[in-house]
Formats: sequence, structure tokens, C-alpha cells
Amino acid sequence: MSLDTSPDYGTPKRVSEKLVTLEIDGVEVSVPEGTSVMSAAVDAGVRVPKLCATDSLEAFGSCRLCLVEIEGRKGYPASCTTTVAPGMKVRTQTPKLADLRRGVMELYISDHPLDCLTCSANGNCELQDMAGVVGLREVRYGYEGENHLKAEKDNSNPYFSFDPSKCIVCSRCVRACEETQGTFALTIDGRGFASMVSPSENQPFMESECVSCGACVQACPTATLMEKSVIDKGQADHSVTTTCAYCGVGCSFRAEMKGAEVVRMVPNRDGKANRGHSCVKGRFAFGYATHPDRIRKPMIRKKITDPWREVSWDEAIGYTASEFKRIQAKYGRGSIGGITSSRCTNEETYLVQKLVRAAFGNNNVDTCARVCHSPTGYGLKTTLGESAGTQDFDSVMKSDVIMIIGANPTDGHPVFASRMKRRLREGAKLIIADPRVIDMVRTPHIEASYHLQLRPGTNVALVNSLAHVIVTEGLVKEDFVAARCDVKEFAKWKAFISEARNSPEEMEKTTGVPAEQVRGAARLYATGGNGAIYYGLGVTEHSQGSTMVIGIANLAMATGNIGHEGVGVNPLRGQNNVQGSCDMGSFPHELPGYRHVSDDKVRAQFEEDWGVKLDNEPGLRIPNMFDASIDGSFKGLYVQGEDIAQSDPDTQHVTHALEGLECMVVQDIFLNETAKFAHVFLPGSSFLEKNGTFTNAERRISRVRKVMPALAGKEDWEVTMDLSNALGYPMKYRHPSEIMDEIARLTPTFTGVSYDRIDELESIQWPCNDAAPDGTPVMHVDEFVRGKGRFVVTEYVPTEERTTGKYPLILTTGRILSQYNVGAQTRRTANNMWHDEDRLEIHPHDAEQRGIKEGDWVGVISRAGDTVMRAKLAERMQPGVVYTTFHFPGSGANVITTDNSDWATNCPEYKVTAVQVSLVSQPSTWQKHFREFSDTQLDLLARRTGRVPESSKA
Ligand code: SF4
Ligand code: SF4
Ligand code: SF4
Ligand code: FES
Repeated sequence: MSLDTSPDYGTPKRVSEKLVTLEIDGVEVSVPEGTSVMSAAVDAGVRVPKLCATDSLEAFGSCRLCLVEIEGRKGYPASCTTTVAPGMKVRTQTPKLADLRRGVMELYISDHPLDCLTCSANGNCELQDMAGVVGLREVRYGYEGENHLKAEKDNSNPYFSFDPSKCIVCSRCVRACEETQGTFALTIDGRGFASMVSPSENQPFMESECVSCGACVQACPTATLMEKSVIDKGQADHSVTTTCAYCGVGCSFRAEMKGAEVVRMVPNRDGKANRGHSCVKGRFAFGYATHPDRIRKPMIRKKITDPWREVSWDEAIGYTASEFKRIQAKYGRGSIGGITSSRCTNEETYLVQKLVRAAFGNNNVDTCARVCHSPTGYGLKTTLGESAGTQDFDSVMKSDVIMIIGANPTDGHPVFASRMKRRLREGAKLIIADPRVIDMVRTPHIEASYHLQLRPGTNVALVNSLAHVIVTEGLVKEDFVAARCDVKEFAKWKAFISEARNSPEEMEKTTGVPAEQVRGAARLYATGGNGAIYYGLGVTEHSQGSTMVIGIANLAMATGNIGHEGVGVNPLRGQNNVQGSCDMGSFPHELPGYRHVSDDKVRAQFEEDWGVKLDNEPGLRIPNMFDASIDGSFKGLYVQGEDIAQSDPDTQHVTHALEGLECMVVQDIFLNETAKFAHVFLPGSSFLEKNGTFTNAERRISRVRKVMPALAGKEDWEVTMDLSNALGYPMKYRHPSEIMDEIARLTPTFTGVSYDRIDELESIQWPCNDAAPDGTPVMHVDEFVRGKGRFVVTEYVPTEERTTGKYPLILTTGRILSQYNVGAQTRRTANNMWHDEDRLEIHPHDAEQRGIKEGDWVGVISRAGDTVMRAKLAERMQPGVVYTTFHFPGSGANVITTDNSDWATNCPEYKVTAVQVSLVSQPSTWQKHFREFSDTQLDLLARRTGRVPESSKA
């Protein structure tokens, strides 16, 4: 329950062209066929009392409060489970119905604690409301009989409590866990009076299969399942709609507030990306925003061995500007640059790239998308003509075959995973290509038809063999290819892909995937109806990441699986604004809207608007900035919201590069790993403290709305603007909406975007312009953005990173549901209860060979470096492959990863590192050095504040 005032229809909306007309309490109403009487009543302006029904869940019909009378029918049917019929005459209010409803309520209340005044749901409780609605005045059964009033509370979950004494066994929680979340963690245990909600095998929530998504808490009509934040703080008094700042799903939330304090986050039922659902991060892990580790004052220091000195904003900005000017005067215009972040808003990112191009006078701007989805931009632009996914999330509900490649949606994109699972339970088929047995392979009521468990690094070999089957078995959608694609390029590709060396039988030696499975999967994808491909960093973070994205696009074009609902090529973006940061011109070779800096016409447009001459040469990419720093030609760096010291590969190379800088400026909310190498720290603002927009994986632009004042006094875009002004390039925005107006003015795909328009439509998927004034849910409908779809030959070139006797295992990295990326936010929340260290997952067979047992400390050594972490024996790994997450700086996952990268975009090859693993008894040399350095830096910070932030410790 929440502050939401929109009507709850009681049952999900039905879609049908056929309308049924009926009469409810004398009011005629027409509704789509299949609609429940309860839902139709809302349209007729009548609210039928209800407890077990809510419109996010299918009707269950257990509480008997929603009884109605229907002319010509016997008895008192439940309006939630009765569907409308033509000419039906329904009465919802009669003396008999009132009696029956009061009787039902009496039964509930006789087994319910009468502590309304001190209950956390007081004022926001459906049971309380219904007692009022039915006019309950007495409880004839008394409270002395057998009851559940002493049932014990389960407080094991850090975010919500379960108080069974308040449970009315309406099963809304059970159904929410099944239908909305798809985890099936809850059951109603026992029968009749003994019925009780039970997590898994009667376990506490924390020990059960529950993933803490909170759907059950939201569905519960009483205080049985309740957020602890509401128990502590009381009910909110207002709410503001905003967008989650974690992953690329981009869930819409209502921040329920008391003054400037967030009481709880409630997923927005009208949110088009999430349709009222959320995961543990977005719903619960917001406490980092007010964590004591937040740095609230700007700081500067001459050397990184000096203590920090708190200064005014003016001094910090003035010092940065003078340092940057000094460096440019000494080392040249190209000696400084900036890095934008996919954590930041579109407006902030746009300003940083503008600052670099217009005020620094070069194109040395890059973004963290470099290290995740840059191959998506390259591959999709080359083949389809636009650097973005083709569908909206709703599209998956029309898919017949879902292929997931190199993505782990239940951990990485949990809300979208729930939507996929819903479609799969409805009967869609599933193909998974992943080295690990990810959860989606086998999860309640879902089993993948094919799990192509390939060896890491062999994606292109696999996609080529899938395409080979489609081409050689005559499964190409010839009419689509002839009409929509460049047939000459197709012919070249067809000749290449038909070669026997690309057959599943030949490629099996490389991929390790049995040829028959590849053949089966290819046939299913090509002939099973609407086929949709979803992929993640397991595709892009390879030395052939761009080739693989192209291979996926080839596959979709060859089968005609593009250009309508249910199909498409869909990158599951990692961070909240990866799509946006790329759209905003964060790459050194592209201006906003993916237009090359060497294009004179495009540059002229920006030059006129910005009033400054722009460089026509692409600038430095992040790895080039590091190399140039080590060479001594790059000396100043402005990093907004990005922790390159932890997230980029080959940590020792990165830190060496950072040590070479003369002015390193970090703008962030915490003293992150990168800030430990900084000379200027500019305190950032969290998503709760600023206005702006994020663009999610479906190109959906959603508003981020300020719900509390910026703790350091400035929103991030203001800081960039001040720096620009101090450097002598004037920026004069009064609100981020003016920055969006400028973006719209200069970017053809954004022409129709404005804050007013977003407010009107809830969110907008670009392209949004005269041709598509309401945005574009599905792209490439009549023709590809580039005109004809372009097939490109995808030769499989194995990575140089090979296993050898010395490094016999392959390490692959990824993330986990409860933590997020470098963990700067989630490590400062109770999410640590699920995952408080990075562990090395290893197959029991590989572990046994090395004498490794669960929890043992193991050294992991690669050609780049070594680190130590604890082992976790995992059957989901294939022998020969080990896996770890990178959420904790001290575990040093990126000390081991190498500087191999994608041939086209330099996206690092995080997913393939040859390693050896062995038992050890002490931390690695790097870890010892890291701890020492980190402790020194925290000490230098503490000498400024007199306090060492605990959670900043490694
Ligand atoms: S916990 Fe809440 S939602 Fe679940 S059965 Fe009890 S009252 Fe209903
Ligand atoms: S929090 Fe989510 S996963 Fe856990 S029991 Fe509730 S609905 Fe199921
Ligand atoms: S799925 Fe992603 S966007 Fe949605 S709540 Fe979770 S982290 Fe936030
Ligand atoms: S609301 Fe219809 S039976 Fe409960």
C-alpha cells in the first residue's frame, strides 16, 4: 500500500476490441471482454469492498468481501472472479450484501490485534479502510477464542518485517511473489484456521529463496509485511515520482517522503519500464544517499600525500581552473580531458562533454560506457544504423522465443527478468548462451529449451554456427532480406557463413557446445515465431565484442526478427544511464546523437550554437588517456561520478597512470578509489538531490526529480557549469530543463523532447521528433535507420588470451543482485547482508584438483597481476572456468584482468582472463600495498574531518 491515489481496479486490465455493456447500480458501462465485474464497477464509479484483490494480480476470490448480486443468478458471486456479460445487471449495495460483508469483517477482526493506533499501517491499511466501508460496529465472536495474536514476528530481512499476527491469509503476497516477481518463495502452509504464510520451507525470510524484491510487501493490505523504514519513521506525507539510479532497467518510483526524508520507495504502477515492480536495490538500498561517509564540502591538496583541506566552492573551482590552464599552457591543449559517467543524468553528461569540447578545446572526453557497451554502439550502428536497442520492454510479452546471450537478467536486470519469466511461464521458449548455469536456465516453472554452455571467448564462433544452420537449412526469411537489407552485402555474408568451417560440427571444437544443440537452438530461433535476442556484457566485454554484436544483428536480420513487437536486438544496459551517456556525445569521436566530430556540417551547427570553434580530430579514449599520462603528455583529468581506479581493467596500470597526473579532479558523493589519487574533490549530489533525466536500455527518457536539497549545496550540473565559467567559457543555465532544450535543439533524435513533454507522457523513448512526436517504442519498423540493413562478415578471431600450463583456467567476471558495480552505494546499505565479499566461484572438480575447500583463501594469478579471495565451490561453473564479482575494492578483481580489448572500441576483455588458482595463506602483495595506501588516504581524509569513514575501508 502507498500514497498512490489512482484507483485500484481490483483485477488486471483486459485488452479486447470487443466491448461488453452491462449495468452496475443502475449505471451503464462498456468494458473490454474478459473484464471482471469489480473492475467494471470502478469504471461505473463504484468501489466494491475488497481485500484479497488488487489490480496487479489475478483474482483469487478468497476473502468474500466483494460479493454482489446479479439479476437472474443465484447466490452472491464474488465480483473479482466474475467476468462481465452483455446485459448483466449488478447490484453492489443491498442490505443483504451489507450484512454478509459485515459478517466477513467480523471474522477477520476477531483474529486481528486491535492496535490500530500504534500500528505502522495506521492511516494506510486496507483492513482498517474496509472495516470503515462495511460499517463494522461490533465483533460478536469476541477475541477470546483460538487466534494467531501471539504468532512470532520474523525480522530477519533487513528491510521489512513479517508479523503473522496481522495476517488475514489473503494470499496477495504469495501471488505477488509468483506472478510479479516469479520467485515462488511463499506458500500458504496448512489448512483452514491453521493456514499461515510461509517463506520456502517454513524458514525465516532471510534463509528462504526470497530475493527481497518487496513485491509482497507492496501487495500486503495490512501491516503484516511492512517496510522497517515505515515502522521507524511513520507514514509519509507526500511523494515525488523519480527514476531508480541503479541499473539500465530504469524503474520508475514514487519516493514517499516526510519533509526532506525518504520514508520508502514505491515502484510506480504507471512506470512504463517497470509496471509497478522493483528489485531489492531500487526499493530498499537508498540509505547510502544520507550515509555519514558522504563528503559535503569541496577539498583540495597539492600532492596526494598531503591531507585534504576543506575549501569553499569558489576556491575549489578557481583552483581547478587555474591548474587546468597552467597544465594546458605548459603541456598543450590536449594535455587535459574529462570522463563522464553513466551514473549521472543526461544533462550532467552533456555538460561535461560540452565543457571538454568548448572550454578545454579538445575532444578528450570518454565515458564508462567505453568499458561496457561501446561495442553495442559500434555493432548496431554498423548493421542497423542506430546505436541502441530496438524494442521497449513490453515487447517481450509478444515474444515466442527468447534468446539470452551473455547476460544474467535475474541478477543484472531483475525487474525485466521478472517480466521475461512471466512470458516464459505463459509458454514462450528460452535459449540461453552462457558459460555458467545462470538462474534462468532452470527456475520455478521455467526451463530453457537449450543452454548453450560455451567456453568464454567463443561467442563469435557460436553465433556463426547458429547463422550457418539458418542459412544452410533454408531458414532465412528471404522476403524480409530482399525487401529490407542490402542484398549484395547479404550475398557476401551468406557465402562466408555457409562455409563448412562455420558449421556447428566444426565449431564444436572451439565452443565446446554439442553441434546438435546448436542446430536445435538455431531452428527454434528461426522458426519458433517472434524471436527476441537480449544480450549483456558477456557479449560486449571481449576482444571481439563488436564482431559479436554484429553477429547478433546478422542473425536477427536473416530471420526477419526485427522491426515489430516481440522480436529485436536488445542490449541489456548495465548502469542506469549507459544509453544516455552514449547519446549525449560522451565519446571522443562523436558529438551528441552519434555524429562524428570530423563532420563539418554537424560541427558547424554546434559551433554556431556554442559560439566556439571545435576540434575536428577525435580525442583520447580512456585507455589512451592512461597511456598518455604514463608517457607524460596528459596531466589533468576531470572525472564526474566514475570510479576508474576500481572499475577499469589492469588496476596497476590505471593507478600508475593516475599517479602521473598533476591535477586530478574527482566529483563524487564518496571518497572512492579514484578520489584517493585526486588533488581536487568536488562533492557530488545523489539522484535524490537533483533534477535531470536518465535514459534506460529501451531508449526511454525518464525524469529524475529532486526530493531533498543537495547535501553539498550544489547539483552536479551546477558544478560543471561553474568550472566552465571559471575557465572562461560561459554557461548560463538556470535549470536542467534548459540543458535538455539545448540537447533537443542540437540532436535530431531528441527534437521533440522537453521536460514538459516527458511530464505529459510519463517517459519518452527516442527518437522523438516530428516523425515520431510520442517517441518510438520499436525501431526499424518500415526501414532500417541506415536505409538497408547491412550484413557484415564476422570472422571468428580467437582472443590472444589463451590458457596455458601456467594459467590453465579462464576467469570471467560479473555482478550479483544485491550489490551494484563498484559497490560504492550498495556497500553502504544493508545489502551487505547478502554479499559482504567477492568470492571466487570454482567448479568442485577444479577445486578438488587443487585441494581447495569451501571458504579457503585462494590466490588468483594472471599475466597482469594477482590477488587473494575466498573460494566458493559452485556446480554452476563449468570445469576450467572460474568467476568472481568486483564489488569490493580490496578483492582486486581488476588487478587480474588484462588490458586486452575489443578491436573496434577498446572495450576491455573482462570476460576472459587466463589464471591459475591455488591455496594461499596471506593477501597478495598488491592487496597489502592497496590496504596501506587506502588506510593512508582515509587517514588524510580523517585529518581533515577527524573521522575515518568505516565503510570506506577496504
Ligand atoms: S502477509 Fe499480507 S498479503 Fe500475505 S496473506 Fe497475510 S495479509 Fe495477505
Ligand atoms: S520479497 Fe519478493 S521474493 Fe521475497 S517473498 Fe516477497 S515477493 Fe517473494
Ligand atoms: S531493476 Fe534496476 S532500475 Fe529497477 S529497481 Fe532494480 S536496480 Fe533499480
Ligand atoms: S476481493 Fe473478491 S473475494 Fe476477495
